[in-house]
Amino acid sequence: MDHDDRSARGIVRDVSDVDRDPGLNPPSEPGAADVPGQVPAVSLGQGHSSVPVVANHDVVDDEIDDPVFVTEKLSVSYGGAPAVLDVSLRVPQKQITAFIGPSGCGKSTIIRCFNRMNDLIPMAHVEGMVRYHGVDLYGGDIDSVQVRKRIGMVFQKPNPFPKSIYDNIAFGPKVLGMKGSMEQIVEQALRRASLWDDVKDRLDDNAFGMSGGQQQRLCIARALATNPDVLLMDEPCSALDPISTGRIEDLMHELKETVSIVIVTHNMQQAARVSDRTAFFIVDMGSSEEARIGRLVEYGPTDRIFTNPHDIRTEEYVSGKFG
Ligand SMILES: Nc1ncnc2c1ncn2[C@@H]1O[C@H](COP(=O)(O)OP(=O)(O)O)[C@@H](O)[C@H]1O
Ligand SMILES: [Mg+2]
Repeated sequence: MDHDDRSARGIVRDVSDVDRDPGLNPPSEPGAADVPGQVPAVSLGQGHSSVPVVANHDVVDDEIDDPVFVTEKLSVSYGGAPAVLDVSLRVPQKQITAFIGPSGCGKSTIIRCFNRMNDLIPMAHVEGMVRYHGVDLYGGDIDSVQVRKRIGMVFQKPNPFPKSIYDNIAFGPKVLGMKGSMEQIVEQALRRASLWDDVKDRLDDNAFGMSGGQQQRLCIARALATNPDVLLMDEPCSALDPISTGRIEDLMHELKETVSIVIVTHNMQQAARVSDRTAFFIVDMGSSEEARIGRLVEYGPTDRIFTNPHDIRTEEYVSGKFG
């Protein structure tokens, strides 16, 4: 492996750790997946070289060197029914990538593939390839605890734990046995989420007393506390007012200096404002209602997708003609 092994180091489990796999235990509550259990001893497995990725679908964005994620013909079905088919794309590092498209086109399904959240849905079946810094994320020797430490996730509805502000942030670092002063870890995560000044005098208060926007920034801080390399955000602002939304968008701009961000948004203006690249998905209407299948239509630099889309369906969507 070349450069990419630094970021991917640790997600490949030593074969001897397979039996004590703490990562396969689903989190006890939604959104707890980024607050994993104990850390197994890890080492780089064999056979995880960065295989050159062959573009096998015309929407692959080949302009991106050194992607954080590469998907190849990624398909997900639920209970045997295909939900989204043949998604091939490259997600750049230290940029913001937006997934847009009408409800049900598979945006959440695809973003969940990036930290193996679909593992927690028994009906879900994932096919195709997802590489994270060149490593097959679905390889048999991947430690999903480490995956979710490095690839944090924030959901539509803020979901703080019913604990103090401090304990919300400290929980993940504690179970991971992160070294250093916990006070500093908590302060740094809250500062990175632009929340420190709001809460520094009430760290012991219950997180449920915060406003919705603050709770969402707390969830971002909680994800940042384990020092992730990627932040996945599934409609992170759709439960928030415009001012709180603006603060999260400002925060995303700051965070992309240090983390790669993928955001699902149903709000096209938001995608246009915050993202560097946009992927547009549709629901392909089959012959029957049951045959609705999500597909990636077009992917590229956000300004081009919005001003000069190559596909008529993208043009119709971004100009508000459907969706
Ligand atoms: N947990 C699930 N179980 C069964 N079907 C699901 C599940 N999650 C999503 N789906 C189905 O997969 C398709 C894509 O859904 P989703 O990824 O949520 O789309 P989007 O986020 O774009 O609205 C839909 O048809 C949806 O009903
Ligand atoms: Mg969704």
